[in-house]
Amino acid sequence: MESEPAVEILERYAGDQSAVIRALQDIQEQYNYLPKEMLEMTAQRLDVPLTQVLRAATFYKQFSLEPRGKHCINVCMGTACHVRGGQLILERLQRELDVEPGGTTKDMQFSLEIVRCIGCCSIAPVIRIDDDTHGRLRQNRLPRLLRRYAEEER
Ligand code: FES
Repeated sequence: MESEPAVEILERYAGDQSAVIRALQDIQEQYNYLPKEMLEMTAQRLDVPLTQVLRAATFYKQFSLEPRGKHCINVCMGTACHVRGGQLILERLQRELDVEPGGTTKDMQFSLEIVRCIGCCSIAPVIRIDDDTHGRLRQNRLPRLLRRYAEEER
């Protein structure tokens, strides 16, 4: 996977042993996950042991070692969201997308995750899609909301 963006990212940090996290963030942003080959290339170009790169890649929740969907849906299942119907929201999303929590749709459009309180309890139940927070959600709003993201050009 010696693609141009990969080379560009790693050249930016070549030989900088303190830049492992920054390099992984850039790779994650470019590919939406951390391809195995890129982890090896990161170790080589930054001149650090592969184990150090793997430790960082597996420690931080922001990184994924599996291919991710174009959009990440985080469903809050904290207490406030749970008592205000979070479970129903989650079940509807699973049905609409045909995917389990932790999974990615076949068309690679959406990944579905469960998270704990995201600090917006007053507008529970809440989901976050990418950087957008959607509160006071009702199940029947979900299909249109999903369509909006699916149709959106990146
Ligand atoms: S419990 Fe969902 S935002 Fe706090």
